[in-house]
Amino acid sequence: VELVQITSEITALVTPMPVPGVGFLPVNAFVITTGSSPILVDTCVSQPPGEFVAALGKVIDPEDLNVIWLTHADRDHTGAIQEVLKTAPNARVFTNFTTVGHLTCGTEPLPMDRVLCLNPGTRIDVDGHTLVALRPPLFDNPGTVGFFDEANGILVSSDCFGGPMATFEEVLVPDVSAIDEEQVMAGQLLWGSADSPWVHSVDQSKFAASLNVIRALDPRLVLSTHLPAIHGDLERHLGRLAMLPDSTPFVTPDQAALEAMLAQMEPVQG
Ligand SMILES: [Fe+2]
Ligand SMILES: [Fe+2]
Repeated sequence: VELVQITSEITALVTPMPVPGVGFLPVNAFVITTGSSPILVDTCVSQPPGEFVAALGKVIDPEDLNVIWLTHADRDHTGAIQEVLKTAPNARVFTNFTTVGHLTCGTEPLPMDRVLCLNPGTRIDVDGHTLVALRPPLFDNPGTVGFFDEANGILVSSDCFGGPMATFEEVLVPDVSAIDEEQVMAGQLLWGSADSPWVHSVDQSKFAASLNVIRALDPRLVLSTHLPAIHGDLERHLGRLAMLPDSTPFVTPDQAALEAMLAQMEPVQG
C-alpha cells in the first residue's frame, strides 16, 4: 500500500494492480479529515495480514475512526474491512443494505450492530457537515453508494471515472491532470465499458441526465477508487463518460488470450 497526499486533508491508500497488456489499475482507499473525526472510504484489495492497517496507522490513529464508508462489496473495496473493524473499535460501517447482504453471503459478514444503512439520496450529518449519499452514473455493483461532502465540494464516486494507467508511477500521482490527456481518456473508455458494460444498452438521454446530477453538484475534487484524483476539470471527465454508450464495447480476453498471457508470465516455482 502506497500513501499519496491528495490535499492537506485527504490521503489516498493506493494499491497499483497490474493488468496484463494494459498497465496498472489504481485501487484507492481514502482517509478524509475535513471534519473533526476522520472518514475512511473503502479498504483496498486483500493485502498481506496487517499491511493495510499499518498504512492506515501512518495517517490516523484508528481509535479516532468513527466512519468507514464502504462504497460496495466488491473485493477490491473490502480487502481489509475485517482488520480495520478490529483495529478501529469505534468505527461504524456506512453502507448500503445490498452490500450488507453481499457480505453476509461470505465467511466474514459485517457485524450488524456496527452497520449504518444508507440509500442514494440519504443525507447524513457527520461531525457537523453533511454527506449526501449518491449512486454514481457508472457502477458495477447494485449496492454502490458514494457521497458528496457539501461543505468541502468533495465527490466520492467509487468505481466511476476510473481508468488504468500505463505505469506504476502514474498510479501514484496526486492529480490526474499530470498524465497525458489522450491516454487518460482511452483508459477511462476502456474501464467504463469493461466495468459497466450495461452502459452500452442505456438510453443516451437518461444517461446524460445522470451526468447532469453530478454536474449540478459542481465538485471541486472527485475521488475515484480507480483513478488518480480529479482536481476541478470535471467537465472534461463527464464528457468522456458521455461518450460511453456509443463507444466500442470492450471484449474481455478469452481462454486463448488468457493462455497467451500466462505463457508470458514467470512459471511458479515449487
Ligand atoms: Fe466495483
Ligand atoms: Fe472497484
